[in-house]
Amino acid sequence: MSLSFEFTADHDAALARARAANAQLAAAVNPRWYPRFHIAAPAGWINDPNGLVHTGEELHVFFQHHPYSTEWGPMHWGHVVSRDGATWERRPLALAPSLEADRDGVFSGSALQAPCGHLEVFYTGNRNVAELPAAGSDPDSAGEPPARCGQSQCRAISRDGVTFEKKGVVVPTPEDVRDFRDPKVWRHGDTYRMVVGVQSRDRRGEVWMYTSPDLARWTFDRVLYRHPDPRVFMLECPDFFPLGDTWVLIFSPMGIRPEGFAHCNVNSAGYLLGSWRPGESFEPGAPYRTLNWGHSFYAPQTCLIAGQRTLFGWMGSFGRAPASAADGWSGQLTVPMSVHLESGELCLRPAPTLTRLRGRCLWNDDAALPASAPTILARDITAADISVTLLAGACERLRLRIGSDTSSVSIIVDRNSGTIGVDRGGAVGNLGYRAAPWAPAYRLWGERAAEIAGESAATGAAGATSAAPLAPLAELSFRVLVDAGSVEVIAGNGERVLSSLAFVEGKRDITLLAEEGDITVAASVWEMTDAFPQAEPVLEIDA
Ligand code: FRU
Repeated sequence: MSLSFEFTADHDAALARARAANAQLAAAVNPRWYPRFHIAAPAGWINDPNGLVHTGEELHVFFQHHPYSTEWGPMHWGHVVSRDGATWERRPLALAPSLEADRDGVFSGSALQAPCGHLEVFYTGNRNVAELPAAGSDPDSAGEPPARCGQSQCRAISRDGVTFEKKGVVVPTPEDVRDFRDPKVWRHGDTYRMVVGVQSRDRRGEVWMYTSPDLARWTFDRVLYRHPDPRVFMLECPDFFPLGDTWVLIFSPMGIRPEGFAHCNVNSAGYLLGSWRPGESFEPGAPYRTLNWGHSFYAPQTCLIAGQRTLFGWMGSFGRAPASAADGWSGQLTVPMSVHLESGELCLRPAPTLTRLRGRCLWNDDAALPASAPTILARDITAADISVTLLAGACERLRLRIGSDTSSVSIIVDRNSGTIGVDRGGAVGNLGYRAAPWAPAYRLWGERAAEIAGESAATGAAGATSAAPLAPLAELSFRVLVDAGSVEVIAGNGERVLSSLAFVEGKRDITLLAEEGDITVAASVWEMTDAFPQAEPVLEIDA
């Protein structure tokens, strides 16, 4: 079902109309794949997490939302709130197009708490650029039309955390950029700072910085970072924050090419570590790295929760509809992940508060897995938190399957390629395989693992995945958060994460299988309970 959006300059009326349309869509949602503990809209389309802010009492999460259909369209902001970092309460839609500046969409942005307590929200007002003037009218650009852009940075405030008052444009569109969006604002000493994603006049991806003494008046500071690859034409959703002495610049680059197992989706997001001081540009000190190796991760944003940097991303299917669109909803967020800097890399670990959602413990024991004979850990489960650690033995591949012989998604640890991956070959609609190079996978060689690590370090060969010598093999241990329409795999300490939408039909057993070899693992399986306890009736599951 798809309903039509019509612009109105009355914000309250725009929100009321959008809520009514979304309720109509929600009444028709099929809940079979609807997330039990990931954030999604009651119905319709969502993309980027927006406006993450923890006030001390409440964690606000907003998201890009088209409440009228399961496809991207004029953007609104959806809103949910958590008090415990695990369960969520829905708030009414927060923002809808209603100004000339945001007539074609309230695009992504961020939020912070002002010193006097109210919420400050910054977002991109989007206007679709009308027909460009004829080529050649710009004397400087060798036949190219001048750059045009309809994006400006806008401000809104909320005193009650429920209703939002728009304050209009605070950073108008600069001359001669092609894209200008996704403001991330934070307080740094006495100054407020904003980073914005830019496609420059010469089609390069850049991050610009602005400063403000009071959140109302903003001044251009500098180009904080320009991507060195000329094919990367836009850096969406920049986020910039310190972890200790290191500055982290996260962005979602458009135009980046696949490299080994990384950046294989139409959309992907990653980070640079480096140094920065006010009054300077950002200096990367290490190569760009992907944040997530799964099928479905983009546009992450972070916030601080009691001093802990925490990240949410968007899980979408990029360029094609997810199978769930037929059920009335498209897209969800990842679980909140704590961000840690370890051995020069970011590690992402599910926020510890998520364990509050654990319900029945269905398995918590060692499992001896004889060669090629499946062991069922739990039967017919919709949502689960699973951990597996290799104790002994050797095999070619270790497979954790969610589903049945007819429909399934598998997490595969492969000793030959030294990877951990998500295989959706048996799922519905959105298929494909994604993997991450992960040295502990070589542990499946058993006693030969140490020898192999030694050989690789000596020769510099590390399987098919990297030319760097292998680090000493850490223990092989991973966690999988299974939801009704997704899996999130956290390898080791969070040094590899794969987030994938995955639609499996029918009975969902959790099965372990050691292929071509005998191994013993320690495993645990908890059923996950619903993160929206006061969910709308439409989310009730048929028995
Ligand atoms: C990223 C993005 C942002 C933009 C928003 C629009 O997915 O394209 O750059 O603000 O989505 O929905």
